[in-house]
Amino acid sequence: MTAVEQDRPLPPKKERDPIADALEMMVYGLYIIGSHKGSEVNGMMADWVMQVSFRPRLVLVALERDARTLENVRATGAFSVNMLGTEDADVELARKFAQPYYAAKVEGRPEDEAQRVYRKLEGIPYSRGRTGCPILDDAVAWLECEAEQEVAVGDHILVIGRVVDGGVRRYGPILSSEVTGWTYSG
Ligand SMILES: Cc1cc2nc3c(=O)[nH]c(=O)nc-3n(C[C@H](O)[C@H](O)[C@H](O)COP(=O)(O)O)c2cc1C
Repeated sequence: MTAVEQDRPLPPKKERDPIADALEMMVYGLYIIGSHKGSEVNGMMADWVMQVSFRPRLVLVALERDARTLENVRATGAFSVNMLGTEDADVELARKFAQPYYAAKVEGRPEDEAQRVYRKLEGIPYSRGRTGCPILDDAVAWLECEAEQEVAVGDHILVIGRVVDGGVRRYGPILSSEVTGWTYSG
């Protein structure tokens, strides 16, 4: 059964086109990328994440140029990848990371609201890994990476990180676009 047959509303798009539709059929894991800078920690929702080398183990994440996460990774050279489970509680947890750190990142926000920052990890239990990046207590699996390379491509920056730690707390399926129906492609 395809995503479209599953009675899920399509994301709003003023004009749909077949290439966007095909791209949106691709399946992604839904990850929470942890980072830190100074005394602040941050988590962002990302699905453009994949392993790109066995030896050394390298993982790629594609980041928007104005993401706070990119700023943090540039400052500390580290990021974590948190994988969640597929229960409703996992979806709700993931949803908390949909906002940007800088409210102003979303176009059209009224001026007073655009000034605020979202400390998305407030109230969410986590520990700091060996890189200092947040690892969610509710993550079923996690990786910690040291950023090795940045590649500017189109409207994103590819950050390639060497995996320096990781673990599995519970084996089983992880949260993905198939579960949430949320898309970040097209
Ligand atoms: C389902 C979904 C997947 C996303 N995947 C990515 C991604 O792979 N890379 C990215 O830069 N932004 C992605 N985003 C958007 C970021 O979550 C968003 O830009 C966020 O503001 C960045 O957070 P930060 O500014 O706190 O770092 C995605 C959003 C959603 C809803």
